[in-house]
Amino acid sequence: MSDPKKRRPLRSELWFNDLSNPEMTAIYLEHYPNYGLTLDELQSGKPIIGIAQTGSDLSPCNRHHLELTKRVREGIRSAGGIAMEIPVHPIQETGKRPTAMLDRNLAYLGLVEALHGYPIDGVVLNIGCDKTTPALLMAAATVNIPALALSVGPMLNGWYKGKRSGSGSIIWQARQQFAAGEIDAKEFLKMAASSSPSVGYCNTMGTASTMNSLAEVLGMQLPGSASIPAPYSERARISYKVGERIVGMVHEDLKPSDIMTREAFENAIVVCSALGGSTNAPIHMNAVARHLGVELTNKDWDAIGYEVPLLANIQPAGPYLSEDFYRAGGLPAVIGELLRSGLIPHPDVMTASGESFAALYRDCQIEDRDVIHPLSDPLTAKAGFVSLGGNLFDDAIMKTSGISEEFRSRYLSNPEDPNAFEGPVFVFDGPEDFHKRIDDPSLAITPESLLVMRGAGPIGFPGGAEVVNMRPPSYLIKQGVHDMPCIGDGRQSGTSGAASILNASPEAAAGGNLAIIRDGDRLRIDLDARRVTLLLSEEEIAKRRDALLASGGPNNPQSQTPWQEMFRKSVRPFAEGMIIEGADSYLDVGNTTVPRHSH
Ligand code: FES
Ligand code: MG
Repeated sequence: MSDPKKRRPLRSELWFNDLSNPEMTAIYLEHYPNYGLTLDELQSGKPIIGIAQTGSDLSPCNRHHLELTKRVREGIRSAGGIAMEIPVHPIQETGKRPTAMLDRNLAYLGLVEALHGYPIDGVVLNIGCDKTTPALLMAAATVNIPALALSVGPMLNGWYKGKRSGSGSIIWQARQQFAAGEIDAKEFLKMAASSSPSVGYCNTMGTASTMNSLAEVLGMQLPGSASIPAPYSERARISYKVGERIVGMVHEDLKPSDIMTREAFENAIVVCSALGGSTNAPIHMNAVARHLGVELTNKDWDAIGYEVPLLANIQPAGPYLSEDFYRAGGLPAVIGELLRSGLIPHPDVMTASGESFAALYRDCQIEDRDVIHPLSDPLTAKAGFVSLGGNLFDDAIMKTSGISEEFRSRYLSNPEDPNAFEGPVFVFDGPEDFHKRIDDPSLAITPESLLVMRGAGPIGFPGGAEVVNMRPPSYLIKQGVHDMPCIGDGRQSGTSGAASILNASPEAAAGGNLAIIRDGDRLRIDLDARRVTLLLSEEEIAKRRDALLASGGPNNPQSQTPWQEMFRKSVRPFAEGMIIEGADSYLDVGNTTVPRHSH
C-alpha cells in the first residue's frame, strides 16, 4: 500500500487531467459531460470507480444488481468517488446455449479491455450467477487495479409440497422421477419453478454459492457479504459499504495481487471442502490464480483440501438451503470454526477490508448446529476433491462429499479392496447421444456398468457441458438404482450431488484416450491410488491410437459461431483453468502499461 499523499497520478487523470497533453485531455473529456457530468468533477482528481454490471433481463440470477447498484453508487459518491457502470457480456447459467461456460472467457476479455482502455481507477465486481464470479475475478486479476466484489446474494428458500426445493438439485431429482414415470411434464415444471421464490442466485451450494463464498474467502468481498440472501435489507446496506470501501482501496492502492495470493487460494481450498463446494470451483479458481501468476493445480486441491471435513449441511450434500445457511451464521461461521481449530493454513492474509482474515472471522460462531455442523461432529470426515490420473486421462477430479451411501455400499465396500472397483463401460458421445440411448433396454446396462461421457470438454462441446452426472436408465431407477459411476471429459452442475469423475483432461476432442475407449472395455477406479485405469494392453491402446490418427482424429462437431471457433483454437484444458492460451502472460496490465492515444 502506498502513502496516499505521495501517490502517483490516478489512471483516470492520465485521461482527464494530463497537463502535459491538453489536446488529448480535451478529446477524452469531450463526450462524458453529455449526460450531465461536469468538467469540474471529471478533473477533480476523484477516483473513477467502474461497476462491472452483470445484471440484466437476460441474467435473472444477477438482475437484482440493477437495484443494488443504486446503493453502490451512493456509497462511492459519499466517499468521494465517481461511479461509471460497465456493461458485462451476459453469462446466464441456465439460459445460455450451448453453455454459459463458453462465454466466461468472452466476458473476461471484454472486461479486461474495458478496465484497461478506459479511465477506471478501481472496480466493483457485481458477482453472482456461476460464471460471472470467475469471469470478473479473472479480469480483475489481469488488470490488477483495486477491485472489490459484491455478491448479489442467494435466493430465499424454495418450497415444494412442504419440503425445501433447491435450485438445480430439484431438477436432478425430478428428472429421475420423470424417467420413472412418477411425475408428468406439468409437475416437473412446477417443481422447477418452486425453487426460484425471489431475486438472487441459486439457493443451493452449487457453483454460484461456492464461487461467491470463495470470492469472500480470497479476501475480495467484505466480510459476511457472500451469504446474505439477495432480498434482505442487509444486502442493500452492504452494497453501500462496498461503494464506500472501493474508494478507500483506490487511495490505499490495495490491488487484487495484494489480496489473492497463493496463501489466500490455499485458505479457499480448505473452506471449499467444508462447504461441499462445486466441482467447477477448481477450474475457476485455477484460472483466477493463473491470471495473477499464482501456480495452482488440481493436485493442490487434493493435497490441501481432501482431508477437510464437510460442515455445511446444504443441498446437494444435505437438506438445507442458503437462507437457512445465513441464519445459521453463514460463511463467517464456517470460517470461524475452521480458524479456531487451526485448519485455515494462512490466517494472517490481507483482505479487501484492510484487515487480516483472522481478525475478521475469528469470533464468528455457528448459530444452528444442524445447518452448520461443528468440527467435532462433521457430516463427512474427508470432504475435499481427489485428483485422479492414469492411462485414460492425466487429470480429473471427484467430489468425495458427493459419495452417497448407496454408491458406497454398491461400489466401495469390498473389504479386500475398499476404495476401488471396476466394471465394463458404456460410452456416450455427448449429451444428445446420452438422452437418445440411455433408456434403450438393448444396451443392457446393469448396476455394475460404468457410464462414460466424452465429447463434452472445452473443445469438444465447446465450453464443456454439464452432463457427466448421468442418471441411470429408467428401468434401473425403478429397481432403486439412483447412483452409478460416471466418468467423463465434461463437467457437472454444482447443484448435482453426484460423485462423478469429471473435468478430465486431455479431453477426447483433443485426442485423449477417452477418444479410443469402447463399449465393454473395463475400467478400474482406485480412489486411494488416485488412479483410473483402462484395462487394455499397451499394444491395444497404441493400435487404437494409430487408428484414431489415421482416421483424421476425433470427429468434433462444427462450430456454430465465430466465437466458438476462436474459443476452441485458444482454450487450455480444464486442469489449467480453461483459460485462453497465453492470456496468463499478461499480468498487472493496468499498472504496467498505458494504452496508446488514437487521435
Ligand atoms: Fe444462475 Fe444458478 S443459474 S446462479
Ligand atoms: Mg450449471
